[in-house]
Amino acid sequence: MQELRCNLSDAIEGVCIGVQSNPKPSIKPFLRWAGSKRQQLSRLVQFWKPSHQRYIEPFAGSACLFFEIAPAQAILGDNNDSLIEVYRAVRDQPDRLFDRLCRIRRNAETYYRWRAKSPASLDAETRVVRFLFLNRNCFNGIFRTNLKGEFNVPIGTKQGAYFTRTDLRECSDQLQKTKLVAGDFTRTLKHVRAGDFVYLDPPFAVTSRRMFREYGTKSFDTTDVPRLAASLAQIDQCGAEFLVSYADCTEARTLAKRWNAVKFPIRRHVAGFFGDRRYAYEWLVSNSCLPQQLNKAR
Ligand SMILES: C[S@@+](CC[C@H](N)C(=O)[O-])C[C@H]1O[C@@H](n2cnc3c(N)ncnc32)[C@H](O)[C@@H]1O
Repeated sequence: MQELRCNLSDAIEGVCIGVQSNPKPSIKPFLRWAGSKRQQLSRLVQFWKPSHQRYIEPFAGSACLFFEIAPAQAILGDNNDSLIEVYRAVRDQPDRLFDRLCRIRRNAETYYRWRAKSPASLDAETRVVRFLFLNRNCFNGIFRTNLKGEFNVPIGTKQGAYFTRTDLRECSDQLQKTKLVAGDFTRTLKHVRAGDFVYLDPPFAVTSRRMFREYGTKSFDTTDVPRLAASLAQIDQCGAEFLVSYADCTEARTLAKRWNAVKFPIRRHVAGFFGDRRYAYEWLVSNSCLPQQLNKAR
């Protein structure tokens, strides 16, 4: 499989060959999420076709591609139960959540007080408000828990603006058209049928490197790669199309050999620490033809 080659400094500016801006106005995701593919949307959207019947994303995170495309029908899944609870609540009551979030003071004392609350001791709505508050104020949007399942990310160094009420209502409207599934990716993939488009963006589990585990203790790891590979074959067999994002590594190259694939440089925020920011390669692997712009650049 050939590789997409482009100048690293061009890629840094996001002007690598094959990258086009998406003219359609997008919905702004309401979560910050480690591993979000926000920087790569212009590449990813090229794989979505109007003929696709439904959009399915089994490793949803902040679901930035889903909000960018705003499909008429979709399924989002994630094995982070709290995250799916948040999506359900935003779908059902964006205004109440927005009002409550805006009433919470944004300082270190309040942050650590909310972080110390046990989610199990809170009612469902307060649990979601806590999740949103911690997500918007924690370090780099990381979701990390200790072995007891307690969220343990420190407060962020910068205070970014919250989403607006309109942003949250737009997300809510989009989620009305979406089925939400809590659980392992295979649970979401059971719903796939011919004509669907499936975007899979698992945590990058790499045998040769110690990865920072941002998504909790039961997160996807290298032992799950064969299950992922088998799922891709099933999606293909049933007549749906898939797109996988994966870090450049032996596992990704094995997946890439079997399907259409391109590799490109991206700016990676390793473990979220400023001194460790560097450039890395990522693969896009798909069973459909590569979009013309990406294909031309290979
Ligand atoms: C790289 S993030 C996805 C980022 C997303 N594409 C975005 O734009 O924000 C990977 C997600 O997979 C979820 N995850 C980890 N292991 C999983 C599994 N076995 N099944 C389903 N989801 C899983 C994590 O909770 C995390 O939200």
